[in-house]
Amino acid sequence: MTASTIPGYRYGDPALPPASIDAAGLADLRAACLLGDDDLAALREAAPIIAPQVEQVLDTWYGFVGSHPFLLASFSTANGPDADYLAAVRARFGQWIRDTLRANFDADWLAYQREIGRRHADGKNATDGVVGAPPVVPFRHVVALVVPIVETMRPFLAKGARDAEHLERMHRAWLKAVVLSVALWAEAYVREGWW
Ligand code: HEM
Repeated sequence: MTASTIPGYRYGDPALPPASIDAAGLADLRAACLLGDDDLAALREAAPIIAPQVEQVLDTWYGFVGSHPFLLASFSTANGPDADYLAAVRARFGQWIRDTLRANFDADWLAYQREIGRRHADGKNATDGVVGAPPVVPFRHVVALVVPIVETMRPFLAKGARDAEHLERMHRAWLKAVVLSVALWAEAYVREGWW
């Protein structure tokens, strides 16, 4: 599936509302995350290493969600886990991995991060037309999931790393990029004016 054929994927859609922060605001957030240009380079080096392994990465993450009922609940209705919902999100999740590793953090990217945050909060379920799943992903779970999302990436990066230092550089860059993303997504959860 190419990016343009993934249902519900709207990165680059000019109809999306713009981000609330501009390039200077993003530069501040990047500075707070210690996400330098060297990290962007490391993410781009990781991209071709991870590209052929995206499905295995997703298997690992879905295995994690699936083995924790409190997480699986976000994808479930009264009939149990919604397989169509899980599959629809999985396709966009895979694309998110590729987009994050492309590290082209421009205005379109920022606008889509706002949308992804919204989709975990007051825009949840609408994209896939899901009825009966919880209306919000609890924010504490989003923050906590940073740890497995980062930890589990390491062995996949190791498969293509030149040496230990290269692995460390790519892995730290991944940590920073995921924290940056979740900081942006937090807008959907935080009291007006407090984000
Ligand atoms: C660091 C933490 C997390 C990351 C990186 C992440 C990543 C993503 C991505 C990339 C998407 C698809 C966005 C799109 O539509 O393009 C998504 C959607 C979703 N995620 Fe997360 N997520 C995180 C935390 C969580 C947690 C803790 C849960 C709870 C199980 C969760 C449940 C969901 C659900 C239900 C959707 C679909 C929302 C909708 O209805 O559109 N996420 N997530």
